Amino acid sequence: MMSFRSFALGAVNRVLRLKSFLKRVGNLFGPAGGVSSHYVQLRGGEAVQESSRLRGAWRSQDLPVRQRELVDTQLAALRRGEPVDVFDVMTRALRALPSDVRGMSVLEVGCSSGFYSEVFEIAGLDVSYAGCDYSDAFIGLARHKYPALRFEVEDATALNYGDNAFDIVISGCCLLHIPEYEAAVAETARVACRYAIFHRTPVVLGQPNVYYRKQAYGVETVEIHFNEPQFLTLLDRQSLELIATYTLDEFVQDGVGSANRTYVCKKMDS
Ligand SMILES: C[S@@+](CC[C@H](N)C(=O)[O-])C[C@H]1O[C@@H](n2cnc3c(N)ncnc32)[C@H](O)[C@@H]1O
Repeated sequence: MMSFRSFALGAVNRVLRLKSFLKRVGNLFGPAGGVSSHYVQLRGGEAVQESSRLRGAWRSQDLPVRQRELVDTQLAALRRGEPVDVFDVMTRALRALPSDVRGMSVLEVGCSSGFYSEVFEIAGLDVSYAGCDYSDAFIGLARHKYPALRFEVEDATALNYGDNAFDIVISGCCLLHIPEYEAAVAETARVACRYAIFHRTPVVLGQPNVYYRKQAYGVETVEIHFNEPQFLTLLDRQSLELIATYTLDEFVQDGVGSANRTYVCKKMDS
């Protein structure tokens, strides 16, 4: 006979699957923001093989223009004073830092077309922004859009910047696409002098890392959802002290669930 515990866990899993299904259906057919679709969970060896096969997927020449179309509508909304949750979380995180960010140098790793520079400008945050991304096409568009700013083609796992080179380093929602995410966290910590921010990080609770193959703007990519306690341990191992967490969405029941959060860390020796 089925125990109450396995019945309850089964029910939780069904709810989680339903939630995840609804989210993905919403992504497929929804309005602006429907950037991700066709999620397939990967298991065991397939997760390893697919994340390695699709590691370079974001270098696709098709992505920058497609992403920018959505970003431009979000930036326009922000300029009209409307809330855009992903942008608002980041500006709130910077404003809430223990130090005044005015004049601080900020590097965004995985910057795409550099649009967070515009978010910061609209928000009146007087930071000195630079961006890097492993995609030539994204960096080409960033340089075209913001010719006065500094952009470099860089891989998040092997950055060509010195230790402590930037006051604040933002890992811009890219870890989830990087199979060697531990190296990317280490590099973020190394080049950050004072703060490291891991923006829009998908995490899971009560279950190990979950790997998906999905389509981002119609391009096949891999997305990793990190076991949250292990992710926090990883930050700690890089001498990053977690000082704030911002939750974009969360669904947890009986310790099992998923969330999307922005983690703000202080470099311990700073
Ligand atoms: C989901 S977009 C995030 C854009 C923006 N930072 C944001 O927060 O909305 C992920 C970005 O990470 C970049 N990326 C993926 N893997 C990378 C890697 N190994 N090194 C550097 N950038 C990478 C992609 O090219 C893409 O521009």
